Amino acid sequence: MSSVFAAVPLAPRDPILGLTEAFVADPNPHKVNLGVGVYQNAEGKLPLLQCVRQAEQRIAENPAPRGYLPIDGLRAYDAAVKELAFGTDPALLERVSTVQALGGTGALKIGADFLRQFDPGAKVLISDPSWENHQALFTRAGFTVETYRYFDPEVNGVDVEGMLADLAAAPSGTIVVLHACCHNPTGYDLTEQQWTQVLDTVRSAGLIPFLDMAYQGFSESLDADGAVVRRFAQSGLPVLVSTSFSKSLSLYGERVGALSLVCADPDEAARVLSQGKIVIRTNFSSPPTHGASIAATVLGDAALRQLWVAELGGMRDRIKAMRVRLVSGLEAAGITDMGFIATQVGMFSYSGLTRDQMVALRAQHGVYGTDKGRICVAALNEGNVEYVCRAIAEVRGR
Ligand code: LMR
Repeated sequence: MSSVFAAVPLAPRDPILGLTEAFVADPNPHKVNLGVGVYQNAEGKLPLLQCVRQAEQRIAENPAPRGYLPIDGLRAYDAAVKELAFGTDPALLERVSTVQALGGTGALKIGADFLRQFDPGAKVLISDPSWENHQALFTRAGFTVETYRYFDPEVNGVDVEGMLADLAAAPSGTIVVLHACCHNPTGYDLTEQQWTQVLDTVRSAGLIPFLDMAYQGFSESLDADGAVVRRFAQSGLPVLVSTSFSKSLSLYGERVGALSLVCADPDEAARVLSQGKIVIRTNFSSPPTHGASIAATVLGDAALRQLWVAELGGMRDRIKAMRVRLVSGLEAAGITDMGFIATQVGMFSYSGLTRDQMVALRAQHGVYGTDKGRICVAALNEGNVEYVCRAIAEVRGR
């Protein structure tokens, strides 16, 4: 008798995490992983932040038994996330329901499952291009996923007119996924004035904004990068926000994220929370303790928080310096039309390299980026940047 597994086809590798799998298997001693969005320090190492280390020491000094957390997560963590994302206005906070999630991806999935139940006829719009997993995740949740114009290769920047036109044309109730800062993969964000236009259009078209906030603190500062989320939350619209500490606390493997649902009033927030808890209970029951305890400890202590702000600023500044370094290295190698890399923000550069060039970078030089031409600038350092510049120059035919 043939088994249920017998006819299962082999799936392709994940377009981002699959690169890491291929990178690990690559014997090239010069290989550089610019695929996944993971920050590495000047020594090419994944950092364990001092604020995290100190928080863990405190937690270890007062060891707590590991019972189940509430379905919606650690209370202190949820409260800290809310304050970080939305500020301290009590009238706003009491109409926001925040639940702990398994990273930013887990938050998106809880939100997607929730919306699929209560807005089943809606379509989802994501930016063109967007993080590869947005399309896959919302499709898996049952939605038809389409795109709105975002990046214009002709001008090498945001096509805001195209974006506004596509949002205005979307049917009322459409869910629109927006990158709150450090757009992934392009590294091009909207200006404050453009955000005003987007918010106005979202409102007049009756769309449901879902803000993905995975890189808070990597553009300008925690506060400045959080401004868009606060503006949407104050707008009176129903808003979903996914938050992640993977990058900002360098806690990738702990899966520390949250979903916040901004409602009309506290009563609505309570009903929405009750349904969000069912989504969680039927997926993973309740979230894990350790990562959320670290985040709550750092955010809840003035000294640790200050240390975090400084360490996050250090990561941000190093990425900016590597952008400049990459541009000057490329210029020295004869590539003079990639200066835009220094103006992009966040961890990534949408390099403009073609699929064939990205494949050649991997095959001939062991330099890994996505097929769409995205490279993670946050993984560059003095030890590998020259090599990467020479490799890019070679695949560009210089
Ligand atoms: C990325 O875009 O590389 C990161 O967000 C990591 C991931 O999960 O894909």
